[in-house]
This record gives sequence, C-alpha cells and structure tokens, in this order.
Amino acid sequence: MRLTVVMNSSRSNDHIPARYDVENVDLASIDGVLSTTRSVRLRLDLDRSVPNELLLECIDVAEQGPGGGNQSSRRWLIVRDPDQKKRLSELYWESAGKWMVSARDKLAGTDHRNASVMRSAAHLAENLERVPALVIPCIWGIHDDSKKPGLFDSVVQSAWSFCLAARARGLATAWTTAILNNDEEIREVLGIPEGVTPIALLPVAFSAGGDFASISRRLAEEVTYFDNWGHTWEHRDDDSDRAIGEGPGVTVEVDVDAPPARVWSLITDISIGAKFSEEFQGAVWIEPSDVAAIGAQFVGTNKHPKIGEWQTTSTITEFVENELLGWAVGDDQESAAARWRWEIDELHGHRCRLRHTVRLGPGPSGLTPAIDAMPDKEALIISRRQQEHLANMQRCVQGVKALAEDS
Ligand SMILES: Cc1cc2nc3c(=O)[nH]c(=O)nc-3n(C[C@H](O)[C@H](O)[C@H](O)COP(=O)(O)O)c2cc1C
Repeated sequence: MRLTVVMNSSRSNDHIPARYDVENVDLASIDGVLSTTRSVRLRLDLDRSVPNELLLECIDVAEQGPGGGNQSSRRWLIVRDPDQKKRLSELYWESAGKWMVSARDKLAGTDHRNASVMRSAAHLAENLERVPALVIPCIWGIHDDSKKPGLFDSVVQSAWSFCLAARARGLATAWTTAILNNDEEIREVLGIPEGVTPIALLPVAFSAGGDFASISRRLAEEVTYFDNWGHTWEHRDDDSDRAIGEGPGVTVEVDVDAPPARVWSLITDISIGAKFSEEFQGAVWIEPSDVAAIGAQFVGTNKHPKIGEWQTTSTITEFVENELLGWAVGDDQESAAARWRWEIDELHGHRCRLRHTVRLGPGPSGLTPAIDAMPDKEALIISRRQQEHLANMQRCVQGVKALAEDS
C-alpha cells in the first residue's frame, strides 16, 4: 500500500518503501551511512547541479521522522536562486564567515586541534554562494519556553534524516547554524513569517570524491549512565543483579569558565581533592615526586565514618598535559583496586569541561570483604559506594571550578 500520494503533483513518494524487512537488513550499509555522514565543506562539488528530485526524495525520507502531536509542522526551504544565495552568503559572511577565515589564517601551519575544522569552515564561508542548493529546515513554532512539544524536538531529527538520506544518494551536506545569529535578516531575505523558526542551513552538493570516514568519539560506556546520572559500567550484563566484576564506576563533570591550563595547574596537585572531599584526606609522593612521570607513586589517606582511616599507594598511569591525568590505586591498571582520572576538554571561548571519573576494580578493593561477607547485598553495596563517590567527586569538581574561576 502507498504511504502517501502527493496530491496535485506528478511526484509521489513511492521511493519510500512501504514495508521494510529488518530480517534482511544490511547493517553495515546503514551503520556506514549513520557514522560517516560528516560535515562536508571542502569536498563539495560546486560545479555539478543537484536535481530537485533528489532533494525532494530526501525530504520525503526526512518527513518520516517523528513529530510532537503527530502534526505536520516542518517546512523546508530550498534556495537555488543565485541572488538569494548571494544574499545568504553575505549574511553568513557577516555572522561567522569573516571570523572563520581569520581563525583559519591564524591557525594555519599550527598543530592546533581546530586547524583543519577552521580550514574547512572558512572554505565553505568563502564559497557558500557557489553551493548548488542551500536547504533550510524550518518548524512552525518559536522558542517560548512553553515546554510544549513541536519545536526543535520535532525538527532536528528530521533535518538529520535529510542529511543521512542525502549521503546515501552521494550528496554531501554540512550542518551549519552560524547564519541564524542574523535572525531578522534571514527572515527578511527568505520571507520566513513570524511564528516559524529556521533551525539550520544545510549546503548540499554532490560530494567531490574521496571516502568519508567515521571519527574518534568517546565510547558508549564513557557517555552512558545506567539507572542513575553518573553511574557507569564497563560491561553491564543484561538484567542480572549488579556485580563488582562488571566494572562499576562514577563520572562527574562541570563546565569551567577558565582555560584548560588553569584547571590543569589545579588538578595536577595530587592532594587537591582533599580540600573538598569528605573521604580523601590528602596524599604524599613517594619518589619520583612528579605527576608527569608515568610510574610515579604517591600514598593517599582516606577516612570513612564506618571504616575509619586507611592508606593506599597509587601509581600515575596516564599523563597528557592539559588534557588527562590518570592513576591506578595499586601498581598498575590491570590489578588496580580502582582507576581514577581527571580529564579536561577544551570548549570554545577559553573555557573547558572538567571530568572526573573512577572505575572500581578490576582488582580487589575495600568493597571486596563487604561483598564476600554479604554476597546477597552486592548490588546494594555497589550502588551505595557509587553514590558516596558521586557526592565527593561532585564536591571536588565544583571546588576546582570555583578555584579556577576565582583567579
Ligand atoms: C549545532 C551545530 C552548529 C554548527 N554550525 C556550523 C556552522 O555554522 N558552520 C560550519 O562550518 N560548521 C558548523 N557545524 C559543524 C561542526 O563544526 C561539525 O559538526 C564538527 O566540526 C564535527 O565534524 P563532523 O560533523 O564532520 O563530525 C555545526 C554543527 C552543529 C551540530
């Protein structure tokens, strides 16, 4: 059965399969599209026209995305007219293009991690007018904090489906929003009425060749919490009770209004946590006393109302200046009672995100005797320990943030 036949049109959307047999799905192709749909800005074929038919096909596919209240509230603008494209590219230039080009020129030849993104972004800014089609997904609705469904939550997924459908057809896209800073002007150029919000500008062209690759992103285990915010598991069995062998852990994060180097100078003080934690009391180095030396060891003192005071020896296992400091409680990661990390992600505007993690095990730890004595309470013991760590680690990241922002 047809899904929908477009009325008053020679087109129909019969390119969309009415049924799809997942038994025979080609997962590699689908995951390939999902994980290699990059922001393409350098490799856009600016000399080859893109048929409207292809764009409309992609929009038909995108329109299969969910929408709040099952209303048809998305609208799509395809801009191909040279004068309109020129006006949009001038707006893009004013809102971000100029800045992108100067950032590219500043970073050229350096090993700054944004150098290649800026090269690509600046190229797009300089050539936007030449891109065969500019597609602007819009939604009926405005940002009014009403919490009603139907705004971005009804359009972003669909716009991304458009990019995926385009990729599957040999087209390249880039998700851009810089132009949206010029809200009034973009409305005026395109005649977008009040009450409708444009959410992105997608330059679309055939890709100018070459493979597009998946890129290195954090593993799912690092960004996925189970049952409670911040509770991580290295390998969680399906519905079984939680077990220490599944590698429970905790992650806390905070955004800091200070550059990475400032935060780094604080967290490389191995005793910094003692200022804020109710459990960690401080640490002293055993030679060599250098945080930068992989293999350097320190003795930490801890205190807990139910356990009393105890000491552990830890070993520095990971060190990347301004980015990562890791240590194992014990001699190495393989036999550690726990593995700890500070990580700093650089954000725009001289800011950063501070991330503090602990992974319990894989060796025996303070929890081991408690679990051995009460095996039926293993899950409870683990989740209480996760909560204790979470609370102390929250205090630590908040404390470091306050110190970093205070200076
Ligand atoms: C919300 C959002 C806004 C973006 N705005 C722009 C933009 O205005 N210009 C641009 O060149 N790229 C823009 N990008 C693309 C990002 O720079 C790009 O996604 C990022 O560098 C990662 O590259 P990838 O998409 O190839 O994985 C935007 C991406 C997102 C998700």
